[in-house]
Amino acid sequence: MTSRIADCRLFLSEFRRNFRTTGAILPSGRRLSTALVHFVRESADHRPRRILEVGPGTGAVTRHLIRSMQPTDCLDLVELNQSFVDCLNDRFRSDPEFQSVAQRCRVLHCPIENLPAETSYDVLVSGLPMNNFAVAEVEHILGILRRLAAPGATVSFFEYMGIRRLKAAFSGRTERTRLRGIEQLVGRLLKDHEIRRDWIWSNVPPAYVHHVRF
Ligand SMILES: C[S@@+](CC[C@H](N)C(=O)[O-])C[C@H]1O[C@@H](n2cnc3c(N)ncnc32)[C@H](O)[C@@H]1O
Repeated sequence: MTSRIADCRLFLSEFRRNFRTTGAILPSGRRLSTALVHFVRESADHRPRRILEVGPGTGAVTRHLIRSMQPTDCLDLVELNQSFVDCLNDRFRSDPEFQSVAQRCRVLHCPIENLPAETSYDVLVSGLPMNNFAVAEVEHILGILRRLAAPGATVSFFEYMGIRRLKAAFSGRTERTRLRGIEQLVGRLLKDHEIRRDWIWSNVPPAYVHHVRF
C-alpha cells in the first residue's frame, strides 16, 4: 500500500514535469493491467517467449506481466524517463515478486525509437501516450512496433474512450488536425489488424485495450 502511494506520487510529479511523455496522472489500475497482459497469460504452447513492455512507468502493468510469465519467458522494459527507470531498478532489487524474475528481465533506459533494428519480440505491451505525440511520431512508433513484432506476435495497447473527440471539442484548429491524424492512423491499424478488444468500464477514465497482430 505504501509503495502504491509512493508510485502515485512519483507518477503525479512526472506528469507535471514531463506531461507529454508521461501522459497519465496515475499508474494503470488492476483491470486495465490485467487486460493489457491478456496474451502473456493466454499462451497456446510453452515455448520461451521474448516479451517487451514499452513505457512501464512505475511498473503497475509490469507486475501483472511478471505474474503471467512462464518460467522460460524473458522480459525487456524500455523506458525513457530516468525517474521511472530508477524506480523499476529499485523494484527489481527489493520487491520479492520482481526479484523472482530479475535474471530474465532487463530495464532498457532509452526511447523505443533507439531499440536495435534486429531485435524482435513475441508479445508486446505498450503504455505509450500516443495522443500526446505528433502525427509523424505516432506513425513512426507504429512502424517500430510492427518492425519489433516477430511473425505471429501480438501488440496490446490502451486508449481512453472518446478522449480524442473530447480533447478536440476544446481545442483549436491545429490541435484538432493533429488529433484527427492520430485517429486515422490508429483507425487504419485497428481496421486491418485488430484481433481482440477489451472494454474496461471501471477504469477512470474508461478505456479500450486493443490487441493487434500484423
Ligand atoms: C501513460 S504512462 C504508462 C505507464 C505504465 N505502463 C502504466 O500503465 O502505469 C506512459 C509511459 O511511457 C513512457 N514513454 C513515453 N514515451 C516513450 C518512448 N518514446 N519510449 C519509451 N518510453 C516512453 C513514459 O515515460 C511513461 O512511463
